[in-house]
Amino acid sequence: MRGASVAAFLATILWAGAGEAEPAGAPLYREHCLTCHQADGYGVPFQQPALAESEIVLGDAKALIQYVLAGTEFSEPGTSDWGNVMPGFPQLSDRELGAVLTYIRQSFGNTADAVSEQDVRGARER
Ligand code: HEC
Repeated sequence: MRGASVAAFLATILWAGAGEAEPAGAPLYREHCLTCHQADGYGVPFQQPALAESEIVLGDAKALIQYVLAGTEFSEPGTSDWGNVMPGFPQLSDRELGAVLTYIRQSFGNTADAVSEQDVRGARER
């Protein structure tokens, strides 16, 4: 945790140095998603898919929220093209999940609408 906060702090300074405010989802992405999907959002061949240009990321917000809440851990073995497993993130708050999903929809060259805290609350309740 200490290492992660130092990294987040340094990254904040780098962003500040570039004269831009860092999006709220960026530190959450670094903490929860970056090791698999990578800093550039292009994943790792055969291990994790790219989030850049992903139809799931850019598509219907409710489907994206439910996908990331559930992950694919419980999908049928052998049905995935990827060596790794996508964990579910039900432990993230509505606000955190909205921020990180907004981040992946508006980074790596992606351009899609933001996902709000309310969107996540609605999708979680089903
Ligand atoms: C342990 C590695 C790992 C972590 C951590 C991880 N993912 Fe994934 N993710 C995967 C794998 C593997 C898949 C492909 C799953 C499949 O198709 O069976 C995937 C798929 C996805 C997809 C679907 C992409 C597509 O086009 O198929 C999205 C969206 C996604 N992840 C978002 C996230 C977000 C957001 C986070 C952080 C909150 C995250 N992932 C953290 C491994 C990971």
